[in-house]
Amino acid sequence: MREIDIKECGGNFIKMIGEDWMLVTAGTENGYNTMTASWGGTGEIWGKDAAFILIRPQRYTYEFAEKNRRITLSFFGGEYKKELGICGSKSGREVDKACLTGLRPVFEEDYTYFEQASVVLVCRKMAYLDIDPAGFLDESIAEWYAAEDYHRMYIAEIEKCLVK
Ligand SMILES: Cc1cc2nc3c(=O)[nH]c(=O)nc-3n(C[C@H](O)[C@H](O)[C@H](O)COP(=O)(O)O)c2cc1C
Repeated sequence: MREIDIKECGGNFIKMIGEDWMLVTAGTENGYNTMTASWGGTGEIWGKDAAFILIRPQRYTYEFAEKNRRITLSFFGGEYKKELGICGSKSGREVDKACLTGLRPVFEEDYTYFEQASVVLVCRKMAYLDIDPAGFLDESIAEWYAAEDYHRMYIAEIEKCLVK
């Protein structure tokens, strides 16, 4: 993969995240996990290009997102939907998702992404915010949280954009 300026990426992240889905990955060769996500976004904050990543606290991936400085977002352009479906329905606590799907992890010093991805964003955590139901203005939002498992939203600087 080669690194490009995120502003040259040209991706429609609403489609890339919401329709095509992405893998959110944290950790290293010594221990990592990945899960499918279709919520989140990209934008600008605090003078940085940023990604907004939402992870519910019961996800195994959450433990790795908490422990590690970097999180990657791997995009597959609508391919590998079956594999992403598996990564979004099985937990890394029970299965080895890479073995199960054939998706191949690429280990860098302090982050991991997937070889088959067409676009990868390498992100450095800057802050987190826990979704607080006290702030819900549209009461229908509460339906997403029957178990009161409010997402943690990581706000992370996009440090690198890698493309195939
Ligand atoms: C299409 C799709 C989108 C998902 N989006 C999210 C998300 O944005 N945040 C989240 O916490 N879980 C999301 N999930 C659920 C996790 O991917 C799922 O619970 C996964 O099994 C967690 O794996 P883990 O326990 O190994 O982390 C999504 C699942 C699917 C299938």
